[in-house]
Amino acid sequence: MDNRSLPEARSHLAGRGLGQGEPYALISRIYHMSQEAREVIEPHIRRTPLEESGSISRAAGKRVYLKLENMQKTGSFKVRGALYKLYKIKDEYRGVVTASAGNHAQGVAYASRVYGLRSVIVMPENASIAKIHATKAYGAEVILHGRVYDEAYQKALEIAQSRGYALIHAFDDPEIIAGQATLAYELLEQAPGAESLVVPVGGGGLASGVSIVYRYLSPETMVVGVEPKAAPKASQSLKAGRPVETPVRPSVADGLIVKQLGTLTFSILRETLDGMLTVSEEAIAHAIYLLLERSKILAEGAGAAPVAALIEHRAGVKGETAIAIVSGGNIDLTNIYRIVIRGLRTAKRIARIAGHIPDSPGQLKAVLEVIARHRGNVIAIHHERTDPRSPAWHAKITIEFEQPEPSTVNSILADLARNGYVFWEE
Ligand SMILES: Cc1ncc(COP(=O)(O)O)c(C=O)c1O
Repeated sequence: MDNRSLPEARSHLAGRGLGQGEPYALISRIYHMSQEAREVIEPHIRRTPLEESGSISRAAGKRVYLKLENMQKTGSFKVRGALYKLYKIKDEYRGVVTASAGNHAQGVAYASRVYGLRSVIVMPENASIAKIHATKAYGAEVILHGRVYDEAYQKALEIAQSRGYALIHAFDDPEIIAGQATLAYELLEQAPGAESLVVPVGGGGLASGVSIVYRYLSPETMVVGVEPKAAPKASQSLKAGRPVETPVRPSVADGLIVKQLGTLTFSILRETLDGMLTVSEEAIAHAIYLLLERSKILAEGAGAAPVAALIEHRAGVKGETAIAIVSGGNIDLTNIYRIVIRGLRTAKRIARIAGHIPDSPGQLKAVLEVIARHRGNVIAIHHERTDPRSPAWHAKITIEFEQPEPSTVNSILADLARNGYVFWEE
């Protein structure tokens, strides 16, 4: 593999109209560390598959390859950075502590077990039971503290000081970034000519690591970051030219909900990324649904975000071939049902109609017969006789059903109208 020197990489970067100066020392240091990281972590991780997906390719209008880090040990790429970071500090510390309710927690817990270190993970009190159990199962001590991440982080700081443990940041750390960068080497071997690479951005550790290696070894590849509209910190920071804190809303892609990029990740990404795209909640939910239904791949929201971007922003990603990093698969089973139903509704596999029917025997049956004639399969019926907004002596009904074709609902509405029932789609 080509092993460009920094001056060469710099001239490539400069040739791309990107910045010059101080960040190159950091970029070069991380690039060199990533080569060590690759060897260090290799015995402890899986080389995850890269698979072409026909259905996602059709939806995106280009050939799409999926890098399946949802199949990585602990269910996400986060274990890469954690393994390398802990390898570097293992002789200095007896234990590590971190604040995380997500994949970083499991990565750190796993890596601690590999190196025989004690680990304490501080999670906000509302962390999901499933994540608490998974983290404990790797041998970590889990402490529930505070209502939000910042409170958990403060507690982690206290523990680091009182016990003399190393505090492990989830993304703003050169060794964590170098560990995440190892993903890029696998990609360069598995899909050497890919024209674009789409990476999810939370705090920016993964995108920083991967884009650094690509700038050195495959500068012609377009590297694009993706984040939810609910947390547009990277797009806004790159536009503003400084790290800006943005308000966040809850998102299906909970792993990408971060208020602000790190100092390091910001200064790297402004040099190495070709662009940022933001994706809607609908697009993320639809991508989870598509991956599951068509490719039998279980991705969490953050891991599905690159696929969502390829579909929602066809023109925003250049070339005929693109890689989407499916960065993780740790989705709560309780959330999957909601997301699948939402995806099924967006894909019009499930429709919901509402209308008023005379409040007398046999009316509901007549409506259901129309739906059955069109092979609609009822999932739920809500029948409300006392809604004051309904016309007198009428009941409001809402019916949700599976439909054989996206247009079936229109035929049903027309058929109902012919039979004297006024219904609409909800
Ligand atoms: C599955 C998944 N993808 C992507 C990210 C974003 O990673 P980073 O914070 O390094 O940008 C996270 C962060 O937790 C994650 O869990």
